[in-house]
Amino acid sequence: MKILVTGKDGQLGFELQRTLAPLGSMHAVGHRELDLRNADAICELMRSVRPDIVVNAGAYTDVNKAESERDVANEVNGRAPGVLAEELKRYGGRLLVHFSTDYVFDGSSTRPYREDDPTNPINAYGASKLLGEQAIQEVGAAYLIFRTEWVYATRGRNFLLTILRLAREGTPLRVVDDQVVAPTWSRMIAEATAAVLAQFGSEGAPKGVYHITAAGQATWYQLAEAILTQCATQASTAAGREWCKQGLQRLSGISSAEFSTPARRPAYSLLCNDKLAQTFGICCPGWRDQLCLALCEHPLSV
Ligand SMILES: NC(=O)c1ccc[n+]([C@@H]2O[C@H](COP(=O)([O-])OP(=O)(O)OC[C@H]3O[C@@H](n4cnc5c(N)ncnc54)[C@H](OP(=O)(O)O)[C@@H]3O)[C@@H](O)[C@H]2O)c1
Repeated sequence: MKILVTGKDGQLGFELQRTLAPLGSMHAVGHRELDLRNADAICELMRSVRPDIVVNAGAYTDVNKAESERDVANEVNGRAPGVLAEELKRYGGRLLVHFSTDYVFDGSSTRPYREDDPTNPINAYGASKLLGEQAIQEVGAAYLIFRTEWVYATRGRNFLLTILRLAREGTPLRVVDDQVVAPTWSRMIAEATAAVLAQFGSEGAPKGVYHITAAGQATWYQLAEAILTQCATQASTAAGREWCKQGLQRLSGISSAEFSTPARRPAYSLLCNDKLAQTFGICCPGWRDQLCLALCEHPLSV
């Protein structure tokens, strides 16, 4: 089985290269090798590689910048997934796996969002990701869309690494404490994706939209506290442990209103993983356990 992974240098794309490798021959491309804004380049690559499965982890993920770069976000997140789906359908490829976001919802729910709850994005990034979901569904090729949220990794640009950097720099840590989500390690998503794909026989598996997130809930503030607490005891150097202890003392929770950003964010965006568990038998572990594992393999050179 031939697998094409896009966005190979991203948080998720990097992990997918590892977890999907045992399932077939891998062709992974990053932004440099394939610009998802370029529909012709997408078609050309698809025609030369002819993958059985395309796993699209490439995306425009700068939520704030998307407000002023809507066109770019829409091209990468809204149009490219449809081009991938169309090309796959044209030559009879088996499946497009795509990733989407909790930000397709407006955050007004009081219980974890299910896959068929009404969407209503409140920022440009969420709107572009919803366009991508719709583009795939309109094509009618076989697809799996995995919505996830608050992805972090031990590499790249993300909240976890930012908190450790700010702790090292001695910056006051004022962190939003009124947005409820499930922080999710990119590796967990990649492992769940591989577990789903491993279940595909020649007949294929159920297609559609599924939610994949860590279990439990947190705010940004609680996540920062958990990161610093663990590193305060486990950092590999005494200086690192001290920076994290001091970071904890400088950590305070603020409201979203006190932290103005170009993009509005949903106040509540927990996603319900039940459909994933019922369909594929995959249980998503708790976010604290995942964070603990992720930090254990981080060099912790804070
Ligand atoms: N990060 C989150 O918190 C989060 C939350 C919910 C859902 N998701 C979704 O999960 C998926 C994976 O996200 P991630 O966290 O792994 O994001 P990421 O770390 O930002 O990775 C995205 C990758 O896409 C690449 N990319 C950006 N523009 C591109 C273009 N025009 N052509 C080709 N590649 C391009 C980026 O390359 P450059 O860096 O070189 O631009 C980057 O390597 C995405 O679909 C995202 O929307 C993420």
